[in-house]
Amino acid sequence: MVTRALDVILLGPPGAGKGTQAKRLAAAFEILHVSTGDLLRDEVAKGTSLGVEAKGTMNRGELVPDELVGKMLAKRLHSQQAALGCVYDGYPRTTAQAMLLDGLLSELNRRVDVVLYLSVADAELLARITGRCSCPACGAVYHVVTQPPRAEGVCDRCGAALVQRDDDGDAVVRGRLRVYREHTAPLLNYYSARRILREVDGAVAPDEVFRRLREAMGNISA
Ligand code: AP5
Repeated sequence: MVTRALDVILLGPPGAGKGTQAKRLAAAFEILHVSTGDLLRDEVAKGTSLGVEAKGTMNRGELVPDELVGKMLAKRLHSQQAALGCVYDGYPRTTAQAMLLDGLLSELNRRVDVVLYLSVADAELLARITGRCSCPACGAVYHVVTQPPRAEGVCDRCGAALVQRDDDGDAVVRGRLRVYREHTAPLLNYYSARRILREVDGAVAPDEVFRRLREAMGNISA
C-alpha cells in the first residue's frame, strides 16, 4: 500500500509489454491502470461518438487527436480510483500530451514520479503483436506461442472467446512503429532531461521484466 500518490509512466513501442506490465504494477501498488488504448477500444465497442470518431484512426495505426484523448485522461485522473496514483500505459504519446499530464497532475499536487522505458527490438515487437490475442470481456492478454491460453481461443480467466485486435496486422503494426518513432520516442529526451527516465530491457521473460521494473523504481516505490 502506498502512502502518497504514485504516478508511473510505462513508455515503449507497440508490443513492448506495457499493458502486460502495467496490470502487474497497478496490482502490486494498488494504483489505477490507465490504458488510453483500452479506454478508446471500450468507446469503439460501445459505439459512442468518441468511439466512432476514433475507430478509423486506430485501425490505420495513427494517433487519435490529443484533445480527445486528453479529455478521457482528465476524467480518469479526477476519479476516486485514481486518488492513490496511476500507471499510465500508452499515454503520453506526444509532447503535447506529456505537458497536459504534467498540468493535470500539478492541479492535484502530484507529479510524474518515474518513467519506465521498455526497450525491445523491432523484429521481436512484430512477432509479439501479430501473435497476440486478448479477451474482450476481462482484458487478459495472451500470445499464441509464448503465452497461449489453456484451451485454444478461450480465455483462461473468464471463458470468453479471444479476439485479435483490428490494428494488429503486419502492415498496420509497421505503421504504428513509424508513428511511435516520430511522435513518441522524442519523449525519452523530455523525461531524461528531468532525470526520471529508467530504461529496462523488455526482451526478457515477463516475470524478469517485472522484477527489473521494480528494481528500476528503487526508493520511489518504497
Ligand atoms: P495501445 O492499445 O496503447 O497500443 P500500443 O501502444 O501500440 O501498445 P500495444 O497494446 O500494442 O502493446 P503493449 O506494449 O501494451 O504490449 P502487450 O503487453 O500487449 O494503442 C492502440 C491505438 O490507440 C493507437 O495506435 C492509437 O491509435 C490509439 N491511442 C492509444 N493511446 C493513444 C494516445 N495516448 N494518443 C493518441 N492515440 C492513442 O504485449 C504484446 C504481446 O507480447 C502480447 O501477446 C503479450 O502476451 C506478449 N508479451 C508481453 N511481454 C512479453 C515478454 N516479456 N516476452 C514475450 N512476450 C511478451
